[in-house]
Amino acid sequence: MRDSFGREITYLRISLTDRCNYRCIYCMPQHGIDNKLDHEDMLSLEEMYVLIKNFVELGINKIRFTGGEPLVRKGIVDLVGKVSKLKGVRDLAMTTNGQLLKQMAKPLKEAGLNRVNISLDTLDPMKFVKITRQGDLNAVLEGIDEAINVGLTPVKINTVLIGGINDDEIRDLIDFTKRGIDVRFIELMPIGEAANFAKERFVSTNLVLETVSELVPIEREDKSSPAAYYVLPGVKGKVGLINPISCKFCENCNRVRLTSSGKLKLCLHSDREIDLGSALRNNENIKEIIRDAIWTKEESHHLEDEQYIIRNMNQIGG
Ligand code: GTP
Ligand code: 5AD
Ligand code: SF4
Repeated sequence: MRDSFGREITYLRISLTDRCNYRCIYCMPQHGIDNKLDHEDMLSLEEMYVLIKNFVELGINKIRFTGGEPLVRKGIVDLVGKVSKLKGVRDLAMTTNGQLLKQMAKPLKEAGLNRVNISLDTLDPMKFVKITRQGDLNAVLEGIDEAINVGLTPVKINTVLIGGINDDEIRDLIDFTKRGIDVRFIELMPIGEAANFAKERFVSTNLVLETVSELVPIEREDKSSPAAYYVLPGVKGKVGLINPISCKFCENCNRVRLTSSGKLKLCLHSDREIDLGSALRNNENIKEIIRDAIWTKEESHHLEDEQYIIRNMNQIGG
């Protein structure tokens, strides 16, 4: 499927739930989400599967499950199993906070998941609680080990840089690359309820290059990836820098997003949504609606005038 700017759309990111077992300070309020979706607004996993099948038949070949936290959604292993068997899916991945990964890695791998990206913002157990409000660092570290053991690789770690909280741990986090793990630093995005917090704590990924001057840039293998990559000399894992605000990859963007209530989002930084869930329930022509929607994908995002999107990250999945 091509959009009106000639971009081939091959990557679908699916937020399976807006719920999460963490309450990260840059993502959710302490008491949880206020406008939590009712169960009937959420697509069933069967409905999700039907939508995914339509997307794959239209040429989507890379699928990522996100959340909230995708592993809190009941039935996820079965869904992975069904989607992995769809002809045309060449990369099936998940972005998770890792809390439940130790138990889930093996069944997910057996069901056909290829790999996981794991969020990890600190290696200090106290800070971990400060950031996630209810996470357990040890569980995540064990989850990372288990993902590698069962072959959910390549494992990538996503670290959101937070000024005054984890910007002193850049070197320690980069040490993960010595184990063949990619570590990607993400700039805080002023999205949803955490918009003001994000502005106060924003740190540019340039700090990574200033802190670890040995890093050398490498060629972009995947032009549609939001990360610019670097390596420590002689080390297998890569260090990625993601600047979602000043991002320069819009012209190579290959992705669209589906929320857990069945809304198709064509750009992360746009509030425009197409209601595929309702279209499915009304027996409309899903393929035609998807094709038409993709044709209208935004050329790029416009954040200069501070018109940030309203939805929280837990509803979009990054
Ligand atoms: P790979 O397939 O392993 O390259 O993963 P990915 O980078 O596509 O997925 P992941 O969920 O790990 O995304 C990491 C972060 O990249 C997200 O949290 C976002 O901050 C950022 N990101 C992902 N997609 C977009 C996008 O379309 N636009 C912008 N601006 N940022 C994005
Ligand atoms: N800014 C940047 N990254 C964020 N994430 C969640 N909220 C934000 C935000 N406001 C990250 C998570 C995860 C990825 C999917 O999105 O930490 O790594
Ligand atoms: Fe949950 Fe991810 Fe949001 Fe943290 S950033 S509260 S892990 S959805």
